[in-house]
Amino acid sequence: MQPLSLNLIDSSTSLQACEAYDSFAKRHLGLSDAEQQQMLAELGFTSRKALIDVVVPADIRRHDALPLGAFSEAKSEAQALAALRALAAQNQVLRSFIGQGYYGTHTPSVILRNVLENPAWYTAYTPYQPEISQGRLTALLNFQQMVTDLTGLALANASMLDEATAAAEAMGLLWRVSTTQSKIFYVAEDVLPQTIAVVQTRAQALGIDVVVGPAAAAMQAQAFGVLLQYPGVDGAVRDDQALVKALQAAGTRVAVAADLLALTLLTPPGEWGADIALGNTQRFGVPMGFGGPHAAYFAVRDEYKRHLPGRLVGVTVDAQGNPALRLALQTREQHIRREKATSNICTAQALLAIIASMYALYHGPSGLRAIALRVHRLTDILAAGLEQLGFEMVNQTSFDTLTIKTDALTEKMHAQAERHGINLRRINATQVGVSLDETTTRADLIELWTVFGLVSRAAEGLVKPLSAAVKDDTVGTVARFSLPEIEALDATTGSRLPTSLLRQSNYLTHPVFNSYHTEHEMLRYLRNLADQDLALDRTMIPLGSCTMKLNASSEMLPLSWPEFAQIHPFAPAPQTVGYRTMIEQLEQMLIACTGYAAVSLQPNAGSQGEYAGLLAIRAYHASRGQAQRDVCLIPASAHGTNPASAQMAGMRVVVVRCAANGDIDLADLRAQAAQYAQQLAAIMITYPSTHGVFERNVREICEIVHTHGGQVYIDGANMNAMVGLCAPGQFGGDVSHLNLHKTFCIPHGGGGPGVGPVAVAAHLVPFLPGHVTTPSQAGEVGAVSAAPYGSASILPISWMYIAMMGAAGLTAATECAILAANYLAHKLGAHYPLLYSGPQAKVAHECILDLRPLKEATGITVEDVAKRLIDYGFHAPTMSFPVPGTLMIEPTESESKAELDRFIDAMIAIRAEIREIEEGGADRVDNLLKNAPHTAQVATASAWAHTYSREAAVWPQPIVLKRKYWPPVGRADNAYGDRNLFCSCMPVEESLSAEHKEDV
Ligand SMILES: Cc1ncc(COP(=O)(O)O)c(C=O)c1O
Repeated sequence: MQPLSLNLIDSSTSLQACEAYDSFAKRHLGLSDAEQQQMLAELGFTSRKALIDVVVPADIRRHDALPLGAFSEAKSEAQALAALRALAAQNQVLRSFIGQGYYGTHTPSVILRNVLENPAWYTAYTPYQPEISQGRLTALLNFQQMVTDLTGLALANASMLDEATAAAEAMGLLWRVSTTQSKIFYVAEDVLPQTIAVVQTRAQALGIDVVVGPAAAAMQAQAFGVLLQYPGVDGAVRDDQALVKALQAAGTRVAVAADLLALTLLTPPGEWGADIALGNTQRFGVPMGFGGPHAAYFAVRDEYKRHLPGRLVGVTVDAQGNPALRLALQTREQHIRREKATSNICTAQALLAIIASMYALYHGPSGLRAIALRVHRLTDILAAGLEQLGFEMVNQTSFDTLTIKTDALTEKMHAQAERHGINLRRINATQVGVSLDETTTRADLIELWTVFGLVSRAAEGLVKPLSAAVKDDTVGTVARFSLPEIEALDATTGSRLPTSLLRQSNYLTHPVFNSYHTEHEMLRYLRNLADQDLALDRTMIPLGSCTMKLNASSEMLPLSWPEFAQIHPFAPAPQTVGYRTMIEQLEQMLIACTGYAAVSLQPNAGSQGEYAGLLAIRAYHASRGQAQRDVCLIPASAHGTNPASAQMAGMRVVVVRCAANGDIDLADLRAQAAQYAQQLAAIMITYPSTHGVFERNVREICEIVHTHGGQVYIDGANMNAMVGLCAPGQFGGDVSHLNLHKTFCIPHGGGGPGVGPVAVAAHLVPFLPGHVTTPSQAGEVGAVSAAPYGSASILPISWMYIAMMGAAGLTAATECAILAANYLAHKLGAHYPLLYSGPQAKVAHECILDLRPLKEATGITVEDVAKRLIDYGFHAPTMSFPVPGTLMIEPTESESKAELDRFIDAMIAIRAEIREIEEGGADRVDNLLKNAPHTAQVATASAWAHTYSREAAVWPQPIVLKRKYWPPVGRADNAYGDRNLFCSCMPVEESLSAEHKEDV
């Protein structure tokens, strides 16, 4: 607890001191001044500054205060919210009929409040530890089942970053499995333009030729793969079943980007032979949010299950033989497979996938079908009414989208629509698009007909044209032409869906999609699942490299504001002034923190920031006539996304050794840099290193690479150790990505969303990602995400954090993170050897404990310790990254001393349990660690055959009695699950019957 400092209770305290007392920084930082002093004293320091002087090399320290301009002074929570509200008010929320992959949707309130706004869901980490993640794993398994059902394919993953990157991943998958010589990927011209752009960017780096043309001409292209859109961007629902069969017969594989809501009515791509289906699940209850975050989906035929990108949840058994869920095929995991990974995706869109799956559960198959039918019926009626008004539909078939011939009236149509509070899709000079969605009402049809009618009658001189200045005189003018009548049209208008494509198969028949349609049932289901998981709302999550810090409520509130949530990413610029101002301010804040010249917020995760940064490097070299530079040096300790991104950017990965002390081996670096001097494109280093140390020679590393013509990529995932103390752009970096979902407080959401901005030095600015909605600059790299600002709607979280912390608060946060890590390293170092450290045995913001000697002596592994921590109520630290057999601990600045001590006590108690085994007092096989975690079922079973007591198993410390967490399953058997891959909802009456098992 923060004691009231004496000068504040004095009645002569100044107003300014009173006002400053309740600063946000005091809420964000877990350690009071007194606790910091106590911890510093234990470490042998008198001040934070003295500690930092030892930890951070002097030659990289920044000497300026963080140049945050108007944001230097911290704002209170109320002030920051008010300032952001003022920006939000500069956005205009119009009714969106733009479509093009983004639709209005009603997030059911029960899901909004109990998932999106519930820290039990949004502060969880990626479910690497299955025993404490059964709730979110269940929700993600439901998501996979929903996708496989709706697409008609065998297997779906647990989300992708967005539809466009999912399409690029589909191209990559088809390219890897292709048996033809063709380098052509054929994209139907009615694929969403933003998808085509991202696919083109990705293809260029991989040496694939993208050809865009009519779907009907796909056969002639002799491509290795084809991408179709279903329904097309113009709204047409084309029957491509024969085409796909012909393509397959010719050895060309097919991916289909499909709208999930439409698939409730249409024959799914899996039933007409597609190899892959992909798309966005945004319209399943996730607000448009100016482009994201939303979960994309990705489903494949059975034969591609080993090639599936992203994460896959699967069913296995636990130690007691009960069903348990876990991430399947983890040997493909980034941390392990590195350049052999199936993609560079690490953080995906778990929270949004969970929302979409809950939306499907809440509505059920009939509810979803009813929504789809309503949208479709309104579309039929809208089209008939427009035809009555004299307009011609360009698409003869449609689900929810109409392309309307407007010829010379086009511009007037957009202007008139905006005056009516409506955005139409801007297609070209002669056509406009209208997409309906779940939120469309009868009143909207009247409004749309009014707009179209007014403009056409005005053109005929039948009504007085409205001037832009006049808001509206609809009533007066409408009276001069008759509007179509909804009931009459409903009675006489047929469906615009082709009968050959009407869906015959069932979907979402599993009981889970048919049980939670009342709010009480849904509320309790959500609560039940959330209760199964450990998230930050219950305990410290000391995951090294993951920076599980506070996600403050004030940072989260703006997400639900309609001015941020309900904006279409392609809304006209004058309507998004507030958004863009907020984004520009955030860019400047990040520039101040990193010391670079510019930032792009487009990448949807750290991995995508890496990819964008490496593309910038490639484009820079090419612009200087050095396109041959394609070698990327990567230290052996790098995060798996680094080599995977380098490969994706078309680079060759060359590994640089690490020295015994964990630093990059300078001699090896020099040798490699010299050997590849003519091909050297870049080095990718992480700083402070993934070993949790500020390497002393980072400037020299940068110089060596620069001398040989390479660029320096500094992975900024560890920026939490640098903000305010040093800046990668100032000590030799040319480009970095940041993980806003680590350093800048965006919650991890159980595995996403994330934001991975890419920051670059001045010479790389021209090579930042572009977008189809902005004019392209010469040399610009194409888009890397579907939306121009990626996951825009979560950017207010980081904006709020920085605004509330100010320059001093941010620097204090970094220093406290380093203090907390050193405190843990010091306390635990006496019990478990510390693997790497810098001067005076000090670490950066995280530390690695070496458990390999214990394994030698006792057979106890890092996994055993991780699982035993669950019995103590903790989430485990990062296991075996970057060094196998170790635990990496990162406490962050947000944990209180009490929580740090609770963790230390648990780790020390576990060490004592291991000592029992060492000394022969406990069995090497039947012991507290090997059998961990202990479930309530195990603890209360009438038979107890263990060599230790029940109490020792489940109440290892008195404090645990007060806040016991019961894992819903025992230790999950990963190997069993991978041998018997099963990745959809289990039949209710059985666990894993033989017919659902299948060896892979
Ligand atoms: C050092 C490092 N680099 C890159 C990444 C990738 O970031 P993301 O998961 O957002 O793709 C991570 C994430 O764990 C990381 O720890």
